[in-house]
Amino acid sequence: MLLAFSMMILLAVTNAAPSTLRVGEEVLSSQDRDRRHAVEATTNVSRQNVGLDVTTTAPTPTCNTTGKETEFGDPFTFECAKNQVISSVTSSYCSSPSDRAWAFGCKVLTGDDLELNECFWSPYINDFGGIMAFQCPFNSLITGFYSTFRDDKNDRRWKVKCCRPGSYLAYNCLTTIESNEWNDDLNFSSPSGYFMRGIHSDFSTGKRDRRYQFDLCKMKTESTENRDRYNYG
Ligand SMILES: *[C@@H]1O[C@H](CO)[C@@H](O)[C@H](O)[C@H]1NC(C)=O
Ligand SMILES: *[C@@H]1O[C@H](CO)[C@@H](O)[C@H](O)[C@H]1NC(C)=O
Ligand SMILES: *[C@@H]1O[C@H](CO)[C@@H](O)[C@H](O)[C@H]1NC(C)=O
Repeated sequence: MLLAFSMMILLAVTNAAPSTLRVGEEVLSSQDRDRRHAVEATTNVSRQNVGLDVTTTAPTPTCNTTGKETEFGDPFTFECAKNQVISSVTSSYCSSPSDRAWAFGCKVLTGDDLELNECFWSPYINDFGGIMAFQCPFNSLITGFYSTFRDDKNDRRWKVKCCRPGSYLAYNCLTTIESNEWNDDLNFSSPSGYFMRGIHSDFSTGKRDRRYQFDLCKMKTESTENRDRYNYG
């Protein structure tokens, strides 16, 4: 079991082609920029005040992007390399801005013949502060994310990229429990043999954060027998 798992990882690593991440793609309006600068200025002033008034070391917020691919507060687009699907999602929380920095991993489905050739981007799957409950349709799987942050909402809106593996069908689907606590790390990895096709979360105004759940499925090739039945039965 462990050996098989190690081999899966080895296989995934061997097959891994560079994924693309584009940070800061969204063009900010000058109004947004002014707002962001205003927030920075306020933060700088308050840090200076803390420095003057408090003699003991003030606790610094843990806003550490080590191991993450995106910056707090910035928009980003992540897409797996061709024919790969999202296999891991990790993020760490920062209280100022109230946001998460993200990193994603990808894996191949199985077999050399697999082609994820029908891809599309969803519209926004949530409002700022709103519930998120999205599933890629028609046996398609999640292969990328677009996300943009708004400071005054302490939240992100998301779009999802879905790709459909030609003759594969989803089965044995399940929804995970919440994979993070409020304001804590999210370290999620699809178990061996499972592939991500959906994402859920709700927002807490008090915590200024989301908790995430994922829809996972096993995938199987449509057997000749089934294909015949669908076509001629
Ligand atoms: C706030 O401080 C940071 C780092 O010290 C600096 O990069 C940024 O430009 C400052 N912002 C303003 C508006 O002064
Ligand atoms: C960020 O976290 C990494 C390990 O996760 C640690 O090695 C590093 O020192 C941290 N950086 C800061 C500035 O705290
Ligand atoms: C998440 O993973 C990081 C890096 O491996 C680790 O430092 C951290 O403790 C983990 N956090 C949780 C809540 O599992």
